Formats: sequence, C-alpha cells, structure tokens
Amino acid sequence: MEHQTLEKNINLMAVFIVLVISVAGIIQIVPLMTQKEVREPAEGIKPYTPLQLAGRDVYVSEGCYNCHSQMIRPFRSEVERYGPYSVAGESVYDRPHQWGSKRTGPDLARVGGRYSDDWHRVHLLNPRNLVPESNMPGYPWLAENTLDPELMKKKIKALQMLGDPYSDEVFDTIEKDFADKTEMDALIIYLQNMGTNRTGRKRND
Ligand code: HEC
Repeated sequence: MEHQTLEKNINLMAVFIVLVISVAGIIQIVPLMTQKEVREPAEGIKPYTPLQLAGRDVYVSEGCYNCHSQMIRPFRSEVERYGPYSVAGESVYDRPHQWGSKRTGPDLARVGGRYSDDWHRVHLLNPRNLVPESNMPGYPWLAENTLDPELMKKKIKALQMLGDPYSDEVFDTIEKDFADKTEMDALIIYLQNMGTNRTGRKRND
C-alpha cells in the first residue's frame, strides 16, 4: 500500500492512528502494572482511615485540586520549599491520585503537621483571616455539614473489593468516629496526615 493511499483516506488513517496509539500505549502501560515501585505502598503509607477518606472525598468534591497539586517534583527548588519529593508508592491508595499540576496555591503533599488544626479551621472558614492577600475561597459550610457513616461503609467495601487491605473491624468504628465530626473536621484530619510518612512530622496541636 502506498503512503498516499493512507494519507488520502481519512477512515483508514483513523484506523492506523488508533492502532499505533494502542500498541505504543500497551508497550508503555503494561510493564507499569507489574512494577513494584508503583504497585506497593511507600514506607509508612497505610490505607486511609474512614475519617481521612471522608476528608479526601471533601477535598475532591470541593475541587481543591483545581488550585493545589500533591506532587513535589524532584528538583532542588521544590524539595527546599516543600520537603522530600513525591514517589509513586505514596499514591497507591489514592483513587484517583491528586497529583495535578495547577498551582494557584502551594503544593499540599507535605502540608501535614505544618500548621495546627485551629489554623486550618480559621483558614478554611475564610483564608483572608490569616493570609490577607489570599485568593482561596472560604468553605464555611464544611463546618456545618455532617458525615454519612452508611455511605462510608459502602465506600470501604468497594475499596476492599479493589484489594485495599481493610480488615472488617473497620466497620465497627465508623459510626462512633463519624458521630460528632463535620466535613471540615474530616478534611483537616486528611490534610494533617499528608506527607507525614516522609517528613516524619506529627500534627502539632
Ligand atoms: C482558587 C484557588 C484555590 C482553591 C480552589 C483552594 N485553594 Fe487553598 N490556597 C490557595 C492559595 C492562593 C493559597 C496561598 C494563600 C493562603 O494560604 O491562603 C492556598 C493555601 C492553602 C493552604 C496552606 C498551604 C501552605 O502550605 O501554606 C491549605 C492547607 C489549603 N490552601 C487547602 C485548600 C483546601 C483543602 C481546598 C479545598 C477545600 C483549597 N485549598 C482550595 C488557592 C486555592
């Protein structure tokens, strides 16, 4: 077949483009599925507790990722500003990962323990309370919204099916843990855990 035939026939061209991308994709993606570094949790990475997971869901549903990445690149400038660079094994329990590249605000991958819970509470209510020039929106309703333990049970069951190592005992604690917590509490618990496996920082409240 002459190359001209291919270039002049859009349908045939489309078929070949799909073929080339599929083959190239398989060559790139399939080896990753067996690579230890991307499949196994990095040191200190554990499945999210139900409260952390509830906070993560708030993070995703409020679209925090539109302004914040969770991916510290292996450059000196990044490491000096934020802390140890990110590795794939940190995200094995993130479905989907929150790496991102949009940084209207700072990267959050190492924010755990950097501020107190109270700092986050005041900041989330209205960031300008603490950072006058901030253009981050306030999220006051998170302090009113309660958490749904039944929904979390379903989510953890789904994660168990996907192979995340949750023991069945986790279901006994959800109701009690969620009872007096708001979405804001859960979000702060999630933020305070972020990167502590790498920085060794503890929540400082
Ligand atoms: C419109 C963009 C935008 C959105 C959306 C946004 N932020 Fe921010 N965020 C910023 C900016 C800008 C800063 C830096 C100024 C400040 O501290 O307020 C910041 C700072 C922060 C900080 C402090 C980080 C540090 O290292 O000092 C945290 C924590 C944070 N944001 C969490 C969140 C969470 C959680 C959400 C979602 C509920 C969110 N942000 C949504 C723009 C945004």
